[in-house]
Amino acid sequence: MNKRQFLKYAGFGLGGAGLLWGLDRFRLPGTPKNPYLAGNYAPVEDLILENALTVIGEIPKELAGVYLRNGPNPMGAVNEKKHHWFSGQGMLHGLRLDEGKALWYRNQSVGSANTHVISHAGKTYATVEAGGAPVEVDEDMRPTGEAAFEGTLNSGFSAHAKLDSQSGELHALCYEFPQGNYLVNHVVVGRDGRVRKTRTIDLPSQTMLHECAITDNYVLVLDLSVTFDMYKLGRGYFPFSWNDAHQARIGLMPRQEEDATVQWFNIDPCYVFHTFNACEDDNGNVVVDAMRYQRLFDQDWNGPFTESPPMLTRWNLNVTTGQYTEDMIDDLPGEFPRVHPDLDGKPYRFGYCLGIGSMRSPDFGRIIKYDFADDSKRVYEFRKGESGAEPVFIPSVNARSEDEGYLMSLVYDRSDNKSNLQIFNAQGLTDGPIAKVMLPQRVPYGFHGNWINA
Ligand SMILES: [Fe+2]
Repeated sequence: MNKRQFLKYAGFGLGGAGLLWGLDRFRLPGTPKNPYLAGNYAPVEDLILENALTVIGEIPKELAGVYLRNGPNPMGAVNEKKHHWFSGQGMLHGLRLDEGKALWYRNQSVGSANTHVISHAGKTYATVEAGGAPVEVDEDMRPTGEAAFEGTLNSGFSAHAKLDSQSGELHALCYEFPQGNYLVNHVVVGRDGRVRKTRTIDLPSQTMLHECAITDNYVLVLDLSVTFDMYKLGRGYFPFSWNDAHQARIGLMPRQEEDATVQWFNIDPCYVFHTFNACEDDNGNVVVDAMRYQRLFDQDWNGPFTESPPMLTRWNLNVTTGQYTEDMIDDLPGEFPRVHPDLDGKPYRFGYCLGIGSMRSPDFGRIIKYDFADDSKRVYEFRKGESGAEPVFIPSVNARSEDEGYLMSLVYDRSDNKSNLQIFNAQGLTDGPIAKVMLPQRVPYGFHGNWINA
């Protein structure tokens, strides 16, 4: 049976990461406890709406909106041996702030879209890769049932899209398996919230394209060392593996020219889920900063962190000579990088990420702020028993500098088995949180979120 036949037979021809990654329904007695089902990785069962929230410190009055965070929350029986962190139904956790008050916390299931939550053209979507369509949610975080991007999306989407703040366009590289075959589309969503362009990219590697990056002139194709794995799919595992046979490469795809060829830079084997950013220098060469894994999804079939830590790495891609340099620019492992929301693809000075620690089991123990202008960093260590999450940067309304604003991170506190939202002044990260909003339950370790002004 070839791959196409198998995928059709298995029902994956319709796409959808929830389907693709959800082949782990049967619990096997006696199998070892999967770390991604234990502790604060374990799903929560209760859907809660809570209006009476305790706040410690002062929430800045200018923060009027909602913080939303998405992550996997597998429901029902799960095969502990085969379960992968990236599997499971998505659950949004949300917190509404206004006038210095925390008005509510609630959580809500959102189906297969389990990875990120974005806002564009006045609509809010839970997102996922590998074929699943974005799930539009209303202001109470409930799925609306409306087709994504006003019904203009003819393919799957990506968990991560990059915003060109000048044009107001979202760019995403979206892979899926529409008829059992692997397909990648570059999808551009206009400022009006409708898909403006879709073009197919030939990518024989069947790589796991978790994210792209953009610059003024290019979309970066991260065709790296983790690719689709039929063997794992057939056995009910998360179907992507480290692949030594594939030449890792970064492609520069011109954004404007329809039929332009991709300029490829072959690089050393690695994988990247997330870029801080990419941009062009004065000579038109491309600089990309990303969290680089030396190896993953090879021996460990359940999650990303045990085989090598993600290290901040910079590639300089010379578009004239075709040469490149690669440098690890920090020795603290980190993930979930964020920058100012208007600076995707632009020169940038500040970046923020979650320091995950150097042990095989990540501690999510610190927030790191990088100043790339003077090659320095500031580190805030969470208190003993606390573990953080992706630090989302929210610019101040009248910001005069790139880092004037706030960082928000969900923090899990082992002492009471609950989570809280911590708000930092981004210019005073090491002073610690200026406010904590105590939540009525824990928020499982998950992936990505955003602040939406409202
Ligand atoms: Fe991601």
